[in-house]
Amino acid sequence: MDGNGRWAKARNRPRSFGHQAGLNALRVTIEHCARLGVETLTVFAFSSENWNRPASEVSRLMELFLKALSKEVAELHRNGICIRFIGDISAFNAAIREKMTEAEALTRDNQQMVTNVAVNYGGRWDIIQAARQLAELAIDGGLQPGDIDEDRFASALALADSTDPDLFIRTGGEIRISNFLLWQSAYTEFYFTPVLWPDFDVETLNQAIVDYQGRERRFGKTSTQLQEPAHA
Ligand code: IPE
Ligand code: MG
Repeated sequence: MDGNGRWAKARNRPRSFGHQAGLNALRVTIEHCARLGVETLTVFAFSSENWNRPASEVSRLMELFLKALSKEVAELHRNGICIRFIGDISAFNAAIREKMTEAEALTRDNQQMVTNVAVNYGGRWDIIQAARQLAELAIDGGLQPGDIDEDRFASALALADSTDPDLFIRTGGEIRISNFLLWQSAYTEFYFTPVLWPDFDVETLNQAIVDYQGRERRFGKTSTQLQEPAHA
């Protein structure tokens, strides 16, 4: 979700105004994805590198998180959204951590759609924390190095319960992944749009999905193989 700052700057408003507008775009996006039948939506709200922004911006973002956690969760719950947070949440203050835990507990059985909110998340962090978990198990003797295959490794990652993402959308015009789901996006289709995140809406999301529908996902196979009926 990139472009909040530029969106605000274009309106001669502070960056925090852009983040507030970004929250509105997120609400619309979650509701639309749920209506479309998307099973899992994962949004990158705050990266492990975002702490390096000016202290005033970081503290405004923390205020916004707290406000959003207080005001938005009930409606998401009514809409059947299961909310999860991925990332190193130990870095957040106690009030935010408590609201995150409450939101997860309240919505854990909801079936309409899972929304993963990546906060203080980094793809490299995720891979390292998985490696650490497996190393601990190996030291305890419960795991042999030879038992570590792709599935076992993926099961220690933050999105262990979700299938790999089909479509990745980045707004704001940059053509890079910026340490998002590095492992999980090995075969994800990428879509980049210059639309700034606060302007992202139902129409721009539909455009991304239509573009995705035109892709041929070969997973290393040839196009001809994909046309052949599967053998029994
Ligand atoms: C993304 O928008 C929001 C967060 C990282 C929290 P930016 O704040 O990066 O907006 P630009 O890239 O400066 O326009
Ligand atoms: Mg940015």
